Amino acid sequence: MERKWWQDKVCYQIWPKSFQDSNGDGVGDIPGIIARLDHLKGLGVDILWLSPVYKSPLADQGYDIADYRGIDPRFGTLEDMDRLLAETKRRGMYVIMDLVANHCSDEHPWFRKALADPEGPYGRYFYFRKGENGAPPTNWRGYFGGSVWSPVPGRKDLYYLHLFCEKQPDLNWQNPAVRREVMEMVNWWLDRGVAGFRIDAIVNIGKPERWESFAPDRPDGLADCRKMLADPVARRRLHTYLGQLRDEAFAPHDAFTVGEVFDTDPAELSLFIGRGGFFSSMFGFSAACWGKSPKGWYAAKKPGPDDYRDCAFASARQAAGIGFLSNIIENHDEPRGVSHYLPEEAASDPRAQKALAAVQMLLPGLPFLYQGQEIGMTNTVFPSIDGVDDVNTRGEYAAALAAGLSPAEALARVAPMSRDNARTPVQWTDGHAAGFTAGTPWLPVNPNYTRVNVQAQDGVAGSVLEFYKQLISLRKNDKYKEALVWGGFAPVHQEQPGLAAFVRDGGGRRLLVASNLSGGEQRLELPGAAGAVLLCSDGAPALAHGVLTLAPWQAAVVELA
Ligand code: GLC
Repeated sequence: MERKWWQDKVCYQIWPKSFQDSNGDGVGDIPGIIARLDHLKGLGVDILWLSPVYKSPLADQGYDIADYRGIDPRFGTLEDMDRLLAETKRRGMYVIMDLVANHCSDEHPWFRKALADPEGPYGRYFYFRKGENGAPPTNWRGYFGGSVWSPVPGRKDLYYLHLFCEKQPDLNWQNPAVRREVMEMVNWWLDRGVAGFRIDAIVNIGKPERWESFAPDRPDGLADCRKMLADPVARRRLHTYLGQLRDEAFAPHDAFTVGEVFDTDPAELSLFIGRGGFFSSMFGFSAACWGKSPKGWYAAKKPGPDDYRDCAFASARQAAGIGFLSNIIENHDEPRGVSHYLPEEAASDPRAQKALAAVQMLLPGLPFLYQGQEIGMTNTVFPSIDGVDDVNTRGEYAAALAAGLSPAEALARVAPMSRDNARTPVQWTDGHAAGFTAGTPWLPVNPNYTRVNVQAQDGVAGSVLEFYKQLISLRKNDKYKEALVWGGFAPVHQEQPGLAAFVRDGGGRRLLVASNLSGGEQRLELPGAAGAVLLCSDGAPALAHGVLTLAPWQAAVVELA
C-alpha cells in the first residue's frame, strides 16, 4: 500500500456548537476551539475535523450552508478560522472542514435567485420539476421523513427537490457550472491552509436519468429515496463527479479526505479508497448500521459488544490490502458509542468504556474520536419531545406515532438513537454548565457532568482520558507503528462471546490486542509465546502457561514473541 502523510495520524471530530463557548452566548465557537487546543494536543490527536462552521441558518445545524466562504457569526469570523489554522499548524496539527455539497441552504443566494426565476441560470443549479395532478413528481421519502419535494412558493405545480429537510435544496451536479463552483470553493479552502475535508452525504450527488415513483414502503405511502441511488446511471454519475473532485481539487493539494459513504458495495471499496481512489479514507459504518430497520428508529435493535466486534472485524478484513477505513464508535449523527454498544448496566462503567476504546483505537484503519468520547460521555436524558432540537429525531418520532406507538413509547424508542445524545455540550468541569459556557447552553448539559468531566480525569491514573492517551501513544510509538498502523490483522477466537481479540503484525512484531467486553472473566490461549504486556486498562492481566486471563471489562495489549 502506498504510504501517505495522514496514515499514522489520529483524528478527532469537533462539533463546534457544543465544544467550547468563548463569549457566553451559549453556543460553542472557533475561539473556544483554539482555547482547548492544548487538551487535544495532550490527548495526542493530529487531525481535527470541524463539523460545519459556515454561514448557515442552522436548520440542520450547519449542514445547510448559506455561504461556503463565510464563517457564521455565531462561530466567529474568517480571521478566527485563519487563527485556528495557524494555531494548529504551530502544534503540528491539521484541520479538515466539512464539505456539504449535495445541498445548500434555501437561504443561499443561488437558491434565492433560483426561486425568483426557476427557468433561469440559477434554476439549473437545483432540481425543479412539475408535479402531476396536484401531487409531487415522485413519492420519494427524504432522510428526515416526509416528501423530498416542496412546492415553489407562488408557482402552481412546481416543486424543488431536497433529500434532507426542506431548507436543504439539492444542488444539481449534472450542471457543469455547479461543479465548477464546488471545485473553486474547495480549492479556495485548501489554498487557505485547510488539510482536507470530510465529505458529507456525498453518495447522493449522482441522480438517475429517469425519476420514477417506487412501491410505498411505509404507512405514509412514500418510498425511501435511497432506492434511486442504486440506479446504474446515478452511480456512474457519482463516480464521474468524485473523480473530478479528486483530480481538480484533492490530489493537487495532497489533501486528506474522508467520505461519508453508506451502503458501499465491497467491490467498490478500491474505487473509493484504494490507490488513486476518490478519497483517502471513508467511514466504516457497518456497526452503526447494525440493527437499523427500514421502518425507522423506533424499530431498531440495540447492538451488543459482540455485534460491534463482528461488524468492525468484517470491515477490517474487507479493507485489508485495499485502503484505510476510518473507525468510529460515535459521531454527531449517532448515539454515544458506550451507550449504544455496551450493555445498559455497563455504559457508564469506565472499565467497559476503556475495553471498547482499546478495540476501536487499535483496529486497522484510522481512529476517529468524537468530542467527549475521550472521557466516556454517554447518551443524555430526554424529559419530553419538546426539548429535542434535532430535526431527524422529530421526523423519527412522527414515524413512530404514525406506526401506532403512544407518545411515551415513541419517545422511549427514538431517544436512544437521537442525534441530540452526542450533541450535548462537552463536559469540561463540574462547574456551571460543565465549563462549556458562562451563559446558558443552547442544549442542556448531560446531568452526569458533575461526575463525568475532563477536569476529573486529566492526569488521573486509570481514567478513561488517560487510557485514551496511552492507546494513542502506543499507536504512534515508532516500535509498534509498523504493526499498528500498516500491519496485518487477524481475529483471535472471534467465536468466544464477550471477547474481542486480534493480532496486529508488522515490522517484525506481533501484538495481541485482547479486550474483555463482558462482565465475566475471559480466558484465552495465546497465539504465540507471551512477551511484554505493553498496556493494560486496569491492573495487570494474568498470564500463565500460555493463557491470558482477563478480569471483567479488562483490556490488554501483549507483545508476542
Ligand atoms: C450527513 C451529516 C448529517 C446531516 C446530513 C445532511 O449525514 O452527517 O448531520 O444532517 O448529512 O447534510
